[in-house]
Amino acid sequence: MDERKIILSGIKPSGDLTLGSYIGAIKNWVELADQYDCFYMMADLHAITVRQVPADLRRRTLAQIAQYIACGLDPEKNTIFIQSQVPEHTQLGWVLDCYTMFGELSRMTQFKDKSAKNADNINAGLFTYPSLMAADILIYQADLVPVGEDQKQHVELTRDIAHRFNTIYGDVFKLPEPFIPKVGARIMSLQTPENKMSKSETDNGGCVCLMDKPEAIMKAFKRAVTDSETSVHFDRENKPGVSNLMQIYSVATGSTFEQIQQEFAGKGYGDFKVKVGEAVVEMLRPIREEAERILADKAYLEKVYREGAEKASYAARKTLRKVYKKVGFVQ
Ligand code: TRP
Repeated sequence: MDERKIILSGIKPSGDLTLGSYIGAIKNWVELADQYDCFYMMADLHAITVRQVPADLRRRTLAQIAQYIACGLDPEKNTIFIQSQVPEHTQLGWVLDCYTMFGELSRMTQFKDKSAKNADNINAGLFTYPSLMAADILIYQADLVPVGEDQKQHVELTRDIAHRFNTIYGDVFKLPEPFIPKVGARIMSLQTPENKMSKSETDNGGCVCLMDKPEAIMKAFKRAVTDSETSVHFDRENKPGVSNLMQIYSVATGSTFEQIQQEFAGKGYGDFKVKVGEAVVEMLRPIREEAERILADKAYLEKVYREGAEKASYAARKTLRKVYKKVGFVQ
């Protein structure tokens, strides 16, 4: 029996993966594979709560898998799959809809934000998104869910739903916990460093994507917002732009903040921004090249997501069968 703890996480292929998702998430997932049973999904079902261009969604879903692998997630050690190819998610999702309260869903911050931003398309899927997310997590009996701060509320709700279900039917679901890897750094926008780097900021230069060409990366860093001082030192509060660049440079080069301060003592921000840009170009170059190579190898990519879906489905079916039986469906 495998006693290892189970991890599940997902990213919606509604935009390209950013430097923020690499440094804050994916990079830290690589070494988890030795200790945990890891499931990583392309959350395409969640992506369509907002209108998508079909061809783009398909392309980004495959590109996301290629980038995961290029970032070091070994498909032999991790289960990498596409959410819509594992029908058990939607099957459990419906059941959980019936154990999730209207009031709970109404209180979700992401729902409120997204309905304000998409006032012309406040669809039912946007509303019930958290119970599908609960299904994603509970169906694998996940112990830990690596997520950013913005998703903690959904994991809390997942626990509430699981607890409610368990109270009625006995121990069916394991209660998951949000998991923030200790080395995880929060990468902020290059244009508005008070906000998290987001894929919605590709046009204004606030965000850098993993597949960006060196020229685009350099341009974004040269234009990065700093402050009116001239000294490179770490102060999140008063120097959010410079501190963010230091954080990025530290991850890209392995230097400590102390060393970075010394390296740029007496130099201007111009120099510093160019150096950070160059370090990021070199950090991302092998990832981009490897991802491009994998994307071109259609047969390999297909093998990865087919096997991933099979493994995921096998694990998911176990939980689904139990749930169907408990609620009274004919076996
Ligand atoms: N809701 C997450 C986001 O918007 C994506 C997601 C979907 C997810 N299902 C999940 C994350 C399950 C962790 C676990 O980023």
